[in-house]
Amino acid sequence: MLTTQRLMTAAKPNVHPSGIRVRTYRTSEQASLAIATEIASLIRKRRAAGRHCILGLATGSTPLRVYSELVRMHRQESLSFINVVSFNLDEYFPISRESRQSYFRFMQENLFDHIDILPENVNVPDGTVSAAKVQAHCHAYEKRIAEAGGIDLQILGIGRSGHIGFNEPGSDRGSRTRLVQLNAMTRSDAANDFSGIANVPTQAITMGVDTILSARRVRLLAFGERKARIVQRALQTSVSKQLPASFLQNHGDVEFIVDASCAGE
Ligand code: F6R
Repeated sequence: MLTTQRLMTAAKPNVHPSGIRVRTYRTSEQASLAIATEIASLIRKRRAAGRHCILGLATGSTPLRVYSELVRMHRQESLSFINVVSFNLDEYFPISRESRQSYFRFMQENLFDHIDILPENVNVPDGTVSAAKVQAHCHAYEKRIAEAGGIDLQILGIGRSGHIGFNEPGSDRGSRTRLVQLNAMTRSDAANDFSGIANVPTQAITMGVDTILSARRVRLLAFGERKARIVQRALQTSVSKQLPASFLQNHGDVEFIVDASCAGE
């Protein structure tokens, strides 16, 4: 059996003409283990240097296996998250933290409840703030990221609309954490989780495009055939706010981590 270390080196990145490195793994399982290994290695390196490791985290189905692998590494390979500070990309608005669909709850259930990260080092945009306070909350979120020293490694998924975080088509390159409207495709993709599109919030709080591009490393994960077309477009179209993921073409350290069925196109 391949070790995760060998899996990582097994998938040599192709540098796409856009400048984005693309690593293709046979399966999403192999891709997930490889990215978990990269995260673990950065956490350990920072710890050895007596420093915090600042992680930008995503929710959704794509990173689930990455998180379960990190939990396994915590339990079986004594990977500690004591020096980790995390910032999640986004949260529905409004939403209670207990709600089944809240990203706060998602992160607790899939990662934070099972590792030794300090609760005060966990940051998820707050879907419970009042509409009057949401702008101040977004500014405070940006300030916390800056005070932490900026994000070392940002994990992203990609929506079929081309969104990263909840930066939907039309999002500015310079956007920062803010309240946004969710687009129709994104709401329809979330309809199952909310038992019907009518129950899907129309708004969300998201880190902005500029917040994401300020991360020192960006790793975008995309698995399965249904993401193939949007990934291909993000790589091939010229940079445009109509396809927010295309802004990643201008980042100096970005990799798309895909499985073979996503790479099909
Ligand atoms: C989630 C997020 C979104 C998702 C994207 C893909 O925090 O920011 O951009 O990454 O919608 O979702 P999945 O992984 O469920 O296909």
